[in-house]
Amino acid sequence: MKLQHLLSVDQLDPDAIAALFALARAAEPIARRRKVCRALEGAVLGNLFFEASTRTRISFATAFCRLGGAVCDTTGFTFSSMAKGESIADTSRVISGYVDALVVRHPERGAAAKFAAATNVPVINGGDGPGEHPSQALLDLYTIGREFARLGKRIDGAHVALIGDLRYGRTVHSLIKLLALYRGLHFTLIAPAGLELPDELGKAVARRGHALEFRRVLHAPLADVDVVYATRIQRERFAGELIEGYSAEFRVDRAFLDGCCTPSTVLMHPLPRDASRDAYDLSPELDTDPRCAIFRQSDSGVAVRMAIFAALLGVGHLLRGPLADARWLSPTHIGPLDASFHTLDTD
Ligand code: NCD
Repeated sequence: MKLQHLLSVDQLDPDAIAALFALARAAEPIARRRKVCRALEGAVLGNLFFEASTRTRISFATAFCRLGGAVCDTTGFTFSSMAKGESIADTSRVISGYVDALVVRHPERGAAAKFAAATNVPVINGGDGPGEHPSQALLDLYTIGREFARLGKRIDGAHVALIGDLRYGRTVHSLIKLLALYRGLHFTLIAPAGLELPDELGKAVARRGHALEFRRVLHAPLADVDVVYATRIQRERFAGELIEGYSAEFRVDRAFLDGCCTPSTVLMHPLPRDASRDAYDLSPELDTDPRCAIFRQSDSGVAVRMAIFAALLGVGHLLRGPLADARWLSPTHIGPLDASFHTLDTD
């Protein structure tokens, strides 16, 4: 499958995903700062973020840099020509004259596709409003695959609980579509009233033969749940909605993990989590629990995004080396709690 742009997970099938993940595995030693790669030497990325971002913007940028490329970026509307009324098509065409690939995050659903329609340079959707976030879904699926490999589990037949803002959460929209490409999954969808998964998306997943269960209450047992994927309430996308039933009862905390999940449940979150007083997001008390994969998940973003660039720009074969060793000092494990997970040799 030759991809020109990556706009939606609808463009992917299991073979294309497997090919991308093989590239991501080859990129791991580069992402983990063991090897140095110059595959994109001379290439320039345009990283255009018209919405707030930390990990997507920085991990796309570092992925491009670690492949030997350079990055130019813009942040927000204020300092871009869109503040002067320029159209997406004009911005896209002009910037394409300067760079070799574009990553776009924009508050409007379909905006990345509009960028892509105006250029032959590869465009990657870094999040289009409440629409999709394909690179996040790929790194989520990659993380699930790695965690399951360690636990001896398979994606076919898995029980996945998706929790939080399933209406506006674009990471959930993309991830459930990707998971639906596999067989016989059981999804438990737990959302406060008003923030349920869009109907048509649930129906499309059910049509592929998966079981869907809908809930408003978090603290109830989840039989043999394999993955718990918690999300932030996307208040910035609300159009005046008042959500009912979103209270401390919705916090993914120690009582929930120990009381409703299993000893091998993988706990995930696309991040950022909302630490404000009236938010009931994933509790930091779980960070030290080995089931909590949130930072292994965010770390995977670099290798998966390197794979996406390598595939779109046709340099996948160069990731396999020979590659020079990195010459600078870097820690053996990225975070203090990672020691038992970052075993490059056994991956
Ligand atoms: C997500 C997003 O932007 O959709 N963040 C991310 O890219 N990891 C999730 C969110 O903002 O809650």
